[in-house]
Amino acid sequence: MQIENYIRAIPDYPKPGILFRDITPLLADGAAFQHTINILAERYRDQGITKIVGIEARGFIFATALAYALGIGFVPLRKPGKLPRKTVSQTYALEYGEDKLELHAEDISAADKVLVVDDLLATGGTILAAVEMLNKQQATIAECVFIITLADLPGAQRLQQAKIPYYTLCSF
Ligand code: PRP
Ligand code: ADE
Repeated sequence: MQIENYIRAIPDYPKPGILFRDITPLLADGAAFQHTINILAERYRDQGITKIVGIEARGFIFATALAYALGIGFVPLRKPGKLPRKTVSQTYALEYGEDKLELHAEDISAADKVLVVDDLLATGGTILAAVEMLNKQQATIAECVFIITLADLPGAQRLQQAKIPYYTLCSF
């Protein structure tokens, strides 16, 4: 089964010039979604990972399914103003705008080995903000994992330069 075949390209969304990679056909197909999570579960089983960190919102879908499959706890990185307890936060630039992520400070510590999950790597702004916050908590990053990497955008190169381990299921 080719995961690429379940991802649709939508031109000029949400702005002219952006080719949006839509994961909803993958999610809507039970066998394809299960296959995706099974590949990740096999890769990350028995790695000593203590927390699966997912990035709002599309990252949550894969992160929570994987956390459930592995029996590992899930920690959300959320858009601003959604988390009620003390947070650490980081602002970042997107392919189409600016945003901020927050993390409950006491949910991740130096004792944690985390897997960071998002659906897609584009400019790398989001994942680098996530890594920065996890570094502030002194957590170990096992790997950052994506379903999709956009190869014509600099995210993958930025992660390589920063020596942050990452893995992707497909590239466009
Ligand atoms: C998208 C995507 C990644 C991020 C990748 O999220 O889900 O998190 O952009 O882009 P980058 O590598 O250039 O930072 P978006 O902020 O659109 O939010 P959503 O998941 O809530 O749709
Ligand atoms: N997030 C950032 N860039 C994106 C794109 N081109 N398609 C889907 N999600 C994205």
